[in-house]
Amino acid sequence: MNDDPITADEKTERIKRLARVVCICKGIPLGKVLPAIKACDNIADVNRMAGTGTGGCKGQRCGPRIKMLLRKKHELQSDNPKIRETTSDSEE
Ligand code: FES
Repeated sequence: MNDDPITADEKTERIKRLARVVCICKGIPLGKVLPAIKACDNIADVNRMAGTGTGGCKGQRCGPRIKMLLRKKHELQSDNPKIRETTSDSEE
């Protein structure tokens, strides 16, 4: 057993690492979910593309996070036509 106390920086880094995981059941990180968020408009499609929502909780935990990311994407697109163009260009 490791009895070494962890530093505040190490603790912060662990918390950040956990926050970057969108689907806790499957260990799917934000970096894998973001391209699906960019390409899709609904949770079912994001789940199909990123592999989220199929773990033990069946999307109970990651579903709300994905929904929030989709909402933010839609808000950004409706507020800024430049972002809308960039997003639709990158889907090709
Ligand atoms: S957190 Fe994604 S399926 Fe449970």
